Amino acid sequence: MIKIRIPATSANLGAGFDALGLAVSCYNYVGMQEYDGVKILSKDERNIPLDENNLIYQTAKKVYDICGVKFRGLMIEQESNIPMTRGLGSSSACVIAGLVGANTLLKNPLTHDDLVNLSAKIEGHPDNTAPCLLGGIVTAVFDDDEVHWVKQEVCGHLDFVAIIPDYTVKTETARARLPEQIPHKDAVFNLSRAALFSASILTGKYENLKVATEDRLHQSFRLKLMPNVEQVMQTALDLGAYASYISGAGPTIMSIVDAKKVDFTTELRKILDKQGLEKWQLLRMNIDNHGTTLLK
Ligand code: HSE
Repeated sequence: MIKIRIPATSANLGAGFDALGLAVSCYNYVGMQEYDGVKILSKDERNIPLDENNLIYQTAKKVYDICGVKFRGLMIEQESNIPMTRGLGSSSACVIAGLVGANTLLKNPLTHDDLVNLSAKIEGHPDNTAPCLLGGIVTAVFDDDEVHWVKQEVCGHLDFVAIIPDYTVKTETARARLPEQIPHKDAVFNLSRAALFSASILTGKYENLKVATEDRLHQSFRLKLMPNVEQVMQTALDLGAYASYISGAGPTIMSIVDAKKVDFTTELRKILDKQGLEKWQLLRMNIDNHGTTLLK
C-alpha cells in the first residue's frame, strides 16, 4: 500500500482572493492500493463516505479514466486531521490525495502541471489545490482551464496560528455573499496589496503584512456569516500578530506571528476563554514547503 501525507492550506492571504495560497503543517494521511471493489477505512472519528461517494475514491478513479486504464477498485485508508468546512483546504486535500495516490499507483503518467490543472478543474480553487500539491506559497491564475502558477518556498521565522471557530461555513455560501461588481479603486486597493504580500513574505519585510492583508473583495462581506471573527482578528493584532486574515472562505482566522512570540497562543487562549469562546480551537503551525509527499 502506498502512503501519502497531504497538508492543509490557507487561501487568499487577505488581498490575494482566488490567487494566493500557502501550505501549512497540519496533515491528512492516506493509504491506497488497487483492490477488487471499494473498501474505505477511516482511521479517525469522522463521518466520511465509505463507498463510491468518497471524494478521494472518486478523484482517483478519474485518473484511471483519463489515462485509459481499466479501474478495478481501490482500498483506501484515511486519517484526517485537517478541520472540515473551516477554510483550511480539507476538500482540496481529498482531491489531491486521490490524484497523487492514483498517479503513483499508475507509475506517474501525469506531470505536476497535469495534476495542478486537473485538481483546479475538479475542486475549483487553485489557491487551495496548488499549494496543497506543491507546498510553499503559490501564486496561481486559473485561465481557460489552465493554471499558470509559481511556487516559492517561505523561509522566515514565522508561525501560522489558525483560530478555528466552533461553527462551519460552506464555501458556496461564503461566495454567494460577494458583490457582482466593485469600484475600480477597490480593485487597485487589492491588487497592490496582494503583490505587496508576496514580495514582503518572501523578503522578510513582515512589517508590511498587516497592510498587505487588508482587502475589499471578500472579507467584509463574509464577516456577516462569521460571529465574533472580526473582534478576534483585532485581538490577535493587539497581541502582536503581524497580520490576521480570513483563511480561504472562512470561518478560520489565520494569524501570522513571529516564531519568537512563544506566548501568543496561550495569551490568546486566555482571552478567548474569557469571551466565552472556549470551543474555538487554536492550531499553531509552520509553512509546509514540501506539499503532498509520498511516505516511505
Ligand atoms: N479563494 C476561494 C474563496 C477559496 O475564498 O472562495 C475557497 O476555498
